[in-house]
Amino acid sequence: MEKMQSLIGRSFLTLKDFTPEEIRYFLDLAADLKAKKKQGIFGNSLAHKNIALIFEKPSTRTRCAFTVGCVDEGGHPEYLGINDIQLGGKESVEDTARVLGRLFDGIEFRGFKHKTVEDLAAYAGVPVWNGLTDDFHPTQILADFLTIEEHFGDLKGRKMCFLGDGRNNMANSFLVGCGKMGVHLSVIAPKELWPEEELVAQAREYAKESGAVIEITESLDAVKDADVLYTDVWASMGEEAKTAERVKLLTPYQVNADLMKKTGREDTIFMHCLPAIKGKEVTEEVFESAASVVFDEAENRMHTIKAVMVATLGE
Ligand code: CP
Ligand code: NVA
Repeated sequence: MEKMQSLIGRSFLTLKDFTPEEIRYFLDLAADLKAKKKQGIFGNSLAHKNIALIFEKPSTRTRCAFTVGCVDEGGHPEYLGINDIQLGGKESVEDTARVLGRLFDGIEFRGFKHKTVEDLAAYAGVPVWNGLTDDFHPTQILADFLTIEEHFGDLKGRKMCFLGDGRNNMANSFLVGCGKMGVHLSVIAPKELWPEEELVAQAREYAKESGAVIEITESLDAVKDADVLYTDVWASMGEEAKTAERVKLLTPYQVNADLMKKTGREDTIFMHCLPAIKGKEVTEEVFESAASVVFDEAENRMHTIKAVMVATLGE
């Protein structure tokens, strides 16, 4: 696919920074790279590129997606765990960014504060990609949108319900992504866990252009006619101390067979970014059912992350 000039050299911190056309390009490129890989065709667009992968928090999918995606395109990934480098301890984020920017062609960051990934991007002088912060997880949204599109044949106008912690990085990222891409979104959560009003207002502003309907509600009745029921862990990484409180608040919002039926649709799919805690946010029955596309999402992390690297960095 021809390169989209506006993406070359850009960082990928949240989907707020990208137009619907640019997000569309990431999805199309990912589908193209996926189809080619299935035919045994690999590009070389990251040849001689070195990629730093910084992880303050653990990861299976994101780490492996960056690693495999980079190697598939001829690049070299280097894993830098939080105990391996000086970041934020002996050395400031700004200094680490400037050092890594001299040595690497691109930097992935997963960690706590969203400000850290912003500072890395401000100082590194090379593209910085957000592999999850407390506030946003934008590469996951690309994988999920690609999965929906593969499953239903389209994305715009589909209805997704996100059940659970409505103020976590996944809910926040869906507000932005769905608003931009015209996916109707119901965040279904107890009031204590509703997203920040400012972000909801921003999503509704995007939705004016795309036609998406953005709803925040406590009512499970909102699942009616949903194409997708999506959930995530009730306590995100770093919030483990809140687990007991969340179990109390969120048990009524578990995705189970009754809730799947409540959509009134035969073809509603179940999605989860993973890792999942079965028996909490989703029952084992739904997770293992034919409606579950969770492993398609996991595979698509790699194709979409590869597309982000190729689009922003590749020759
Ligand atoms: N979905 C996701 O980001 O998984 P990991 O935490 O394993 O990277
Ligand atoms: N909200 C979860 C997402 C994990 C991919 C977390 O931050 O732990």
